[in-house]
Parts: sequence; C-alpha cells; structure tokens
Amino acid sequence: MEDKLLKISLNAEVEKALNDQIKTEAHASSTYLAMSTWCGEHGYDFSASFFAKQAEEERAHMLKLFKYVNDRGGQAISPEITNIKADFHSFRDLFEQTLKMEIHVTQLFNDMAEKCIKLKDFVTFQFIQWFLQEQVQEEYVARRILDLFDVIGEEGRGCWEIDKQVEKVKYQG
Ligand SMILES: [Fe+2]
Ligand SMILES: [Fe+2]
Repeated sequence: MEDKLLKISLNAEVEKALNDQIKTEAHASSTYLAMSTWCGEHGYDFSASFFAKQAEEERAHMLKLFKYVNDRGGQAISPEITNIKADFHSFRDLFEQTLKMEIHVTQLFNDMAEKCIKLKDFVTFQFIQWFLQEQVQEEYVARRILDLFDVIGEEGRGCWEIDKQVEKVKYQG
C-alpha cells in the first residue's frame, strides 16, 4: 500500500463532491454579499443586513466542509469564485433567486448523501446530515419571506414594510 493511501481515508469521488460543495458555498456567500449591496443601494437596509448575515453563514458552511476534508486526510481546495450576479430585476427577485439557490443546494446534498451510501462512506453521510437539516431552515425562511410579498403586496409602501419584516422571519424547528 502506498503511503498516500494510508493518510487518506476519503474516497476520491466523495472528496471531489465535497470540494465542489466548498465552491458552491463560497459562491453562495459571494452572491448573498452582492444581494446585500443591491438592497443597500435601493434603501432596503434590513434586507441588506439579512443578506450580509446569510453571506457569513454560507462562509461558515464552506469552512466546516473545508475542515472536514482536511481532517479526513483529503485536500480541501481554496475555491476561485467568478460570475457573481450583481443586478437583479426587483426586490422580490432577490428572494426568488435565494429560494432557487437553496433548493439547488439541498439537491446537491441529497446527491452527495446518495453517493456516500453507494460508496459506503457512512461517516461523510452522517457529517452531511447537519447540512440537510440546515437546508430545511434556509428553504423555510426564503419561502416565508416570499409569502410576505403576497400578503403585504409590493404597491406603495409595501416593499418598505416587507423589508422591515424580513429579519423577523425565523424557523422554529
Ligand atoms: Fe450553505
Ligand atoms: Fe444556504
């Protein structure tokens, strides 16, 4: 057995999936920062801080994955992030994009869970359960905020009222 194999307890395919996810989380973090800027520019200050906080959370997700890959003897790759969307159609568009992005991330973790089972990496399977739970919360918050657009409406002062409510949306797990 090569020395290298003794150090790595991670399947190469799983390692690749985890590194892809590191990149996805970093991309999400940068996207939320861009959304925060858009909100600030348009006078939605509560949402600007909401998205800045989301950006920090996505970075924390990235670091959690990063540490795990290195701890298992793999090589976590520092991601290069490009193509960050910076212009959005409307205030509502930001939250629609958010929900789409979070649903996509959930799907990626589901695919990873399937891969872990197929390759019998039950440790990584268990590790990513935390992320799947986190996705329940993130999708819930995005859906509830989108509900605000329907309930309050975007006419007149509607968007300013929605902005004030955004940070109050919490998931009671
Ligand atoms: Fe995340
Ligand atoms: Fe997220």
